[in-house]
Amino acid sequence: LFWILRGRTRKPGEPPLVKGWIPFIGKALDFGKDAHKFLEEHRRKHGDVFTVQIAGKFMTFIMDPLLYPSIIKQGRQLDFHEFTDKVAPLTFGYPPVLGTTFPGLWEQIKRSFQLLQGDHLAPLTESMMGNLMLVFRQDHLNGAGDWRRGSLYEFCCSVMFEATFLTIYGRPVTGIRHGGMDRLRDDFHKFDNMFPFLIAQIPIWLLGRTLAIRQKLISYFLPQHMSQWTNNSQFIRRRAELFEQQDKLKDVDKAAHHFAILWASVGNTLPATFWAAYFLVSQVEALKVVRQEIVDVLRDSGVDFSTSSDVMLSKEQLDKLIFLESAISESLRLSSASMNIRVAQEDFSLRLDSNRSVGVRKGDVIALYPQSLHLDPEVYEDPQTFRFDRFVQDGREKTDFSKDGQKLRYYLMPFGSGSSMCPGRYFAINEIKQFVCLLLLYFDLQLEDGQNRPGLDPSRAGLGILLPSSDVRFRYRLRSV
Ligand code: HEM
Repeated sequence: LFWILRGRTRKPGEPPLVKGWIPFIGKALDFGKDAHKFLEEHRRKHGDVFTVQIAGKFMTFIMDPLLYPSIIKQGRQLDFHEFTDKVAPLTFGYPPVLGTTFPGLWEQIKRSFQLLQGDHLAPLTESMMGNLMLVFRQDHLNGAGDWRRGSLYEFCCSVMFEATFLTIYGRPVTGIRHGGMDRLRDDFHKFDNMFPFLIAQIPIWLLGRTLAIRQKLISYFLPQHMSQWTNNSQFIRRRAELFEQQDKLKDVDKAAHHFAILWASVGNTLPATFWAAYFLVSQVEALKVVRQEIVDVLRDSGVDFSTSSDVMLSKEQLDKLIFLESAISESLRLSSASMNIRVAQEDFSLRLDSNRSVGVRKGDVIALYPQSLHLDPEVYEDPQTFRFDRFVQDGREKTDFSKDGQKLRYYLMPFGSGSSMCPGRYFAINEIKQFVCLLLLYFDLQLEDGQNRPGLDPSRAGLGILLPSSDVRFRYRLRSV
């Protein structure tokens, strides 16, 4: 018992070890409260590399971004997929994919991610534009030019959820919009609120109605329902084909895989869209510059914008929106808190730089926590301030950020890194750009008085873009152009 309670002790060559006073749980509670603050305090005490016991796992944090490249390029001894194949099935409710039950499926799923990128991005982007325009036109562009009131997060979520859904999964054969979208989104948010607990591997039966809600969400994607949809993305078509080839995959498992993609495609995009819109609307100067940039790009391609007609922005036009892209990067910098995780496959000595290594043990988690980099005043001056043009230099994208006089290879990491990097990142940036373009082109926008900048809800720390801790009231009216 003594040895169990005493637990692990630090060996020579290993990083400083931080254990809590509760065996097993360790420092999980402190970490969960404010991960960024927790890690900064330990960095001050222990230096740039230290190991913390969190919920039964030993996690070695690498805090110096100059050391990130050596972790990201380590492939063989540090694995990511073993971790996702354990956690994602428990969270979304499908059987693990690695192993011999579903031969070749893992590799094929990985390959399907290419359908979100490269040449496939243009048709996806075009389809998203049409769907955004459809939802804007039918739900928000249908009145006279009076001021209307709304809640910005709710506004962003309702438009982006539906337009993304239509783009990825298609529309009903019998119409142009799905019925019951609000209910689906409502269930999605209920599931999403429980997402951190599921990722932490808390059994779903301990989480109230979460299992029933997940079953309802999954059943939405059963083959008999999806066969009633048309115009879906090549990405989803390909995945559906792959699942058909697997005899042992039940219909409900196929549906659970499709549901997982729903989470991946909107779970981060909804809050990211909110933050981009919020920061722009909260700064008159930023809004003016970005709106003018959009109008100029349209004019350069021969379009004189007017709110009475629909607008299309192609992938090429979106690529030219340097200030908008910078504003989105800046809002991602301020709101993202994803953790990059690798699991040590054996006991070994992890090389950090040319003269430093640390010992890690098989099963230990090596973690990068880029929020610390994003809020580091040595890298980003005045890091809590939103500067819409922070990522622009001499009329082009700024990529030159440094620490301790050395240029950083990784300075903005909302989408993860290396082998676990988000395959939907280009699509995500494009759809956020498209949404903001429509918002700024069609509406005059104002925040209602007396509201502070909303805080970041810490419950998703480590998992992606943080949600606002409260919604923001705003006013909007059709512009007179
Ligand atoms: C994975 C972020 C939008 C599809 C990831 C990961 C991050 C991330 C950090 C890696 C997870 C990890 O390392 O554990 C984001 C952010 C988004 C976004 C910040 C929006 C602002 C999207 C969109 C799609 C998508 C729009 C699809 C349409 C995926 C998929 C994975 C993933 C399929 C899993 C990749 C794998 O298993 O290797 N995302 N994502 N994401 N993302 Fe995104």
